[in-house]
Amino acid sequence: MCGIIGYIGTAQAAPVLLEGLRKLEYRGYDSAGVAVLEGGGIDTVKTSGRIEALAEKVRAAGGLSGSVGIGHTRWATHGVPNETNAHPHVSSDGRFAVVHNGIIENYVELREELISQGVSFRSETDTEVIVQLLDRCYDGDLKQALMRTVSRLRGSYAIGVLSASDPDVIYASRSAMPLILGIGAGENFFASDITALVSHTRNVIDMDDGEFAEIRRDGISVFDHSGKLIRKPERRITWDIAAAEKNGYDHFMLKEIMEQPAALKASIEPRLRDGRVVFEGLELDMSRFDRVLITACGSAYYAGCVGRTVIERLCRVQTEAELASELRYRDPVMDERTLVIVISQSGETADTIAALKECRSRGAFVLSIVNVVGSSIAKLSDFVIYTWAGPEIAVATTKGYTTQVAVLEMFALWAADRLGRVSPERYAEIAAGIARIPERAQRALDLNASVRRLAKRYHGNSSLFFMGRDLDYAVSLEGSLKLKEISYIHSEAYAAGELKHGTIALIEPGRLVIALCCCERLFEKMVSNIQQVKARGAKVLAVACEGERRIFSEADDVLLVPRADEILMPVTEIIPMQLFAYHVALENGCDIDKPKNLAKSVTVE
Ligand code: G6P
Repeated sequence: MCGIIGYIGTAQAAPVLLEGLRKLEYRGYDSAGVAVLEGGGIDTVKTSGRIEALAEKVRAAGGLSGSVGIGHTRWATHGVPNETNAHPHVSSDGRFAVVHNGIIENYVELREELISQGVSFRSETDTEVIVQLLDRCYDGDLKQALMRTVSRLRGSYAIGVLSASDPDVIYASRSAMPLILGIGAGENFFASDITALVSHTRNVIDMDDGEFAEIRRDGISVFDHSGKLIRKPERRITWDIAAAEKNGYDHFMLKEIMEQPAALKASIEPRLRDGRVVFEGLELDMSRFDRVLITACGSAYYAGCVGRTVIERLCRVQTEAELASELRYRDPVMDERTLVIVISQSGETADTIAALKECRSRGAFVLSIVNVVGSSIAKLSDFVIYTWAGPEIAVATTKGYTTQVAVLEMFALWAADRLGRVSPERYAEIAAGIARIPERAQRALDLNASVRRLAKRYHGNSSLFFMGRDLDYAVSLEGSLKLKEISYIHSEAYAAGELKHGTIALIEPGRLVIALCCCERLFEKMVSNIQQVKARGAKVLAVACEGERRIFSEADDVLLVPRADEILMPVTEIIPMQLFAYHVALENGCDIDKPKNLAKSVTVE
């Protein structure tokens, strides 16, 4: 969602800010703006729409000269996405500009208070109260004014502040929203995430809730909520800049789909030693838990649905998966005998964070599976297992999801072993299967050309269904989500056994049904379901395991993926579905990396 960036140095700020905003585009946005200190005043350029339009306006405005500035990509929450509501917001007297990611929950109350003091508001946003409040609190000391301002705010924020009265400093502060500081030579930065900064510096500081950063050209000071100077560790980013670039691919999504063998290898290999699964530092007595609860949002939840089945099957411990956005509201029964597994690529999803806090407050042990080091969920958990997928830029997750599934499968085996519920032979068989996941993923990618042909044939469908049983059903949920989120085609995933309880009424001649048939035990039952929909005129595209000949006489089109132990099939089985979604969206001319209305990191509830 919203992205913020700030720069202070000796270079021209506007190009640095615009480049940073381009890198933040992936978070999802509908308007953008920059503000630069120039000749003792603040110059602001804003636009609804894309960064290119903003860059064009900046050019038309003469380029905005000045070496201190802030920028923003906005995903509208309060007020429509137009130029007035775009950030940066400037105080009535023009002295201060603020960019903000998050939601100020008490903004109505603050707005009324300020209006009663004679302040007039220009925008419909919650953010504008921050800058007007800052203006009222300022008596020559910007740090104090900012501290006083944030002490009045309820809700979540990462904010950046520019002041015409303090031209040699910018400030940033956070509460429950991502914010990092970038340390350069004679220049320093703040941003919502590393991708915006990595072309300038690899040395960063992770900010924690309630902290303030005073950022000058020659150094950064961080203070706690009471204004006391604190020492913050620096972290060096090790990933390659190319990881956040398209590298010759037309879209980040395709690049990330193709990166899956490498991402899976990075997540699996360091944790498999001599055929044993090892999670460095994880000393968990599994026998203290009588149940496992997995919680997450979006694709991470669908990865959790795979994890639920695999963990329960191997560990023989009751395991459930629940949407984080629902779990938190239902007054769940849990205590210290509950192991909660929280899954999140970004580590910043607001509903997932809220569910995590709810579970911890009830005494549960929280183990998280996260891709972004130092993210909020990583910080709030009792233990973190990182997926080493590298930066994921496309809104539709691919390598994020498959690495989550692989890590869950590894955890299931590790836990089953701790509980003494898996024989040495079965352990060795599954561990060997896990070691070969990257190779199977690579072979599944070989289906790309066939999938593209199928996408050309079926992209005109206005609505379609996915169906599967057991793990195939869990995968079909993700396959269906992929398709609808980037191609906007209506698609639903059904547990194949449920078809006859309603959905079959929607099957009509020519309707495409994608049948996932990789659970060998259930193959015959899937064949029956395929026959039922075919009898009503549906076209069936089946995904099955290599060597499965029977499927050819049942389905109209078949994609065969490398065979593995049933519990390890989901990682490879989803790959042709990711490719299908990609190619259908391409055929339909969709904006694949930035689908409408969606955001990569959903930081509002
Ligand atoms: C958004 C993204 C999805 C993601 C979900 C959960 O909706 O577009 O790709 O699955 O959030 O995100 P998380 O970062 O918590 O995995």
